[in-house]
Amino acid sequence: MKYIIEHLDPELYDWCLLEYTHISEIVGKENLIFTNVRNVEERKKLERLGTVEEKSVTQLKYPRLCILDPAASKTLEPADKQSFDYLLFGGILGDWPPRQRTKKELTRKLDAQSRNLGQPQMSTNTAVYVAKKIIDGKKFSEFQFIEELVIPVEDGEEIELPFRFVVENGKPVLAKGYVEFVRKQDVF
Ligand SMILES: C[S@@+](CC[C@H](N)C(=O)[O-])C[C@H]1O[C@@H](n2cnc3c(N)ncnc32)[C@H](O)[C@@H]1O
Repeated sequence: MKYIIEHLDPELYDWCLLEYTHISEIVGKENLIFTNVRNVEERKKLERLGTVEEKSVTQLKYPRLCILDPAASKTLEPADKQSFDYLLFGGILGDWPPRQRTKKELTRKLDAQSRNLGQPQMSTNTAVYVAKKIIDGKKFSEFQFIEELVIPVEDGEEIELPFRFVVENGKPVLAKGYVEFVRKQDVF
């Protein structure tokens, strides 16, 4: 299985890079393709993590492709491994409330099947993590999730990330350095 990330945010923010680095670790550089990377400097950065295409996935016509979209009516299952060669994800940072950008920017533009990973929104790296585990044989019902991540910061304050995260061995599965990275942001 190959994993495609259609880069849809206006820039390759540090936050995107953190998530994309995690995705490369999850699926392996040889199985990862970034599409729609228009900026030459950004292409150079991403070449360390996978194959990089300047064109959009909507122009590249990959066969046997499945879009991972929270708005899809069917949930991805292990048997889907037989039907698809490419899984496509939106390289979109989480937004709240979700604006159905995957549906607008990918599902409506491509003649391809789509699958959900449950309805709640996950970050792109969490979605890739869950999809890869399902393709490797794990059932969706076997995952343990939390519906938000609370990160304590100074003076008893907290940052709440209203996205679904996978829990394994009692801990959320996060990109390396994620908690420290979130603490340094001043957008909250
Ligand atoms: C942060 S999400 C963006 C979701 C966006 N707000 C929307 O409503 O479509 C980034 C990507 O992860 C994947 N994703 C996240 N949660 C998912 C879910 N529950 N089911 C399927 N795909 C999901 C999708 O490919 C999505 O484009």
